[in-house]
Amino acid sequence: MRQIKSLSHLGKQIMVIDKSKRNLMYGLGGAGIGVLALSAANRFSFISKTTFKAASNELRIPPLLDSRNGQNIAIDIQDGKHEFFPGILSQTKGFNGSYLGPTIRMYKGETTKITFNNLLDEPTTIHGHGLHVDGRWDGGPQNIIKPGEKLEYQLNIIQQSGTSWYHPHFMGKTAEHVHAGLAGMYIIEDQNSLSANLPKRYGIDDVPLVLQDRTFINGVIKTYSVTPEQIMQGLQEDSLVVNGTINAYKDVPKGWVRLRLLNGANARYYKLTLDNGGSFYKIATDGGFLNKPVPISELTIAPGERNEIMIDFSDGLDKRLLADFQSPEGEEFFTSLFTSSHSVLEMRVNTQLEPRGSLPVNLNDIRPYNINDVKVTRHFELQMGEGGEEGQSNSSMDTHNMFSINGRSMDMAFINHESKKGQLELWKISGENMRHPFHMHGTSFLILSQNGNEPKPEDQGWKDTVNVDEGVTEVLLKFDVTADSQSPFMYHCHILEHEDAGMMGQFTVL
Ligand code: C2O
Ligand code: CU
Ligand code: CU
Repeated sequence: MRQIKSLSHLGKQIMVIDKSKRNLMYGLGGAGIGVLALSAANRFSFISKTTFKAASNELRIPPLLDSRNGQNIAIDIQDGKHEFFPGILSQTKGFNGSYLGPTIRMYKGETTKITFNNLLDEPTTIHGHGLHVDGRWDGGPQNIIKPGEKLEYQLNIIQQSGTSWYHPHFMGKTAEHVHAGLAGMYIIEDQNSLSANLPKRYGIDDVPLVLQDRTFINGVIKTYSVTPEQIMQGLQEDSLVVNGTINAYKDVPKGWVRLRLLNGANARYYKLTLDNGGSFYKIATDGGFLNKPVPISELTIAPGERNEIMIDFSDGLDKRLLADFQSPEGEEFFTSLFTSSHSVLEMRVNTQLEPRGSLPVNLNDIRPYNINDVKVTRHFELQMGEGGEEGQSNSSMDTHNMFSINGRSMDMAFINHESKKGQLELWKISGENMRHPFHMHGTSFLILSQNGNEPKPEDQGWKDTVNVDEGVTEVLLKFDVTADSQSPFMYHCHILEHEDAGMMGQFTVL
């Protein structure tokens, strides 16, 4: 059992909570070997025999806004009332709707104008996670849209096809705003994706899936609030919501189906499998296609990550995608005892739907960087509990300064480093105490080593978010766009509670 280190740096309240949790753990451990053995057996039968009732709600598909349709795209950021359970309304936030937002399709080589109109009664920012655009269009913490104001973005798309997303990035409020429902997908197309013989009918056989966990009390969403302990561990809730739908089903053609998965959770990792134990193919990472499809039978997706997978329904059998909830603290014995499977999507074969597209043999032509071309090596140590500059306040309830990178909590007035456009860099990243999904703005990288190991074949693609732990993760990257000190790029942990509490830094690219 890993314990949170450096308790002396935490407020008294956290110590009490943590101690009672530890007592609870010991209490369980002390219940005896017989009980533990029984639990393990239960767990096996639980996982292999979990049966789900037929899903009751048709999967919501976010509306598609295609930038080639001529009109400029206008998005209202608004408060809403969303119906998660029939007849019960929850207070939420959304883009042009009550929860989440439209999928926006853009094309490489074209500039898309999008106006975000802030109808909330508070300021926010809208960041394009995964986009390679100049800092002024990045929507970082400096690019504030005040209540009643709007901002027109000009997104000049220079990157290859892939699935990115947009979400607020207001300093200290990202977790709350995303949790309320503010997230949407960007789909980028290019010559390669348009000519590939893949399923590409949006919402039919090319299906966006935004995965989030939320708490419901009598059918009403629990609005965002966190205890100091939840800031430490990241907010982990117990009901799975997919595209704002609970317990979702979807009709699919008797052929190939492509799923664009986005982990939009505040902190949870999801381990995805098919209920028949069968394999599926991963075809894309965060920033584009893999060179070839990689067959896998389970896929762990960290907060902020996207993956595209292909599932074959030509056998005519219905299948269910499952998610095991995982804590960032990992799969240690106790947590794994309580791992539970959730239904992401019940997929029902409907022979009325004509199958189209297939699984290509080749998808991409990724040219690896040459390590000998590296001009700068940077180190990033994600820290909990021991950070904070000398002299920064550290009152007992001020968790902010306990979260840091390289000993420094996020400070909007301080530029942590300067990168040079076009220069190859090696970033070496590690994180304390638990897994952290590390992300940086403005580019995609290739993984050289992940937590000390060679990256798995299904991770050898363009990425902007990577799961790091105490081992060293090395990534190679360069920037094709610029960001000045007025609107710098961020790097941070994508556990949103950690990000808001200061596990973030900023840099320019000139
Ligand atoms: Cu998805 Cu800086 O964020
Ligand atoms: Cu981002
Ligand atoms: Cu973290």
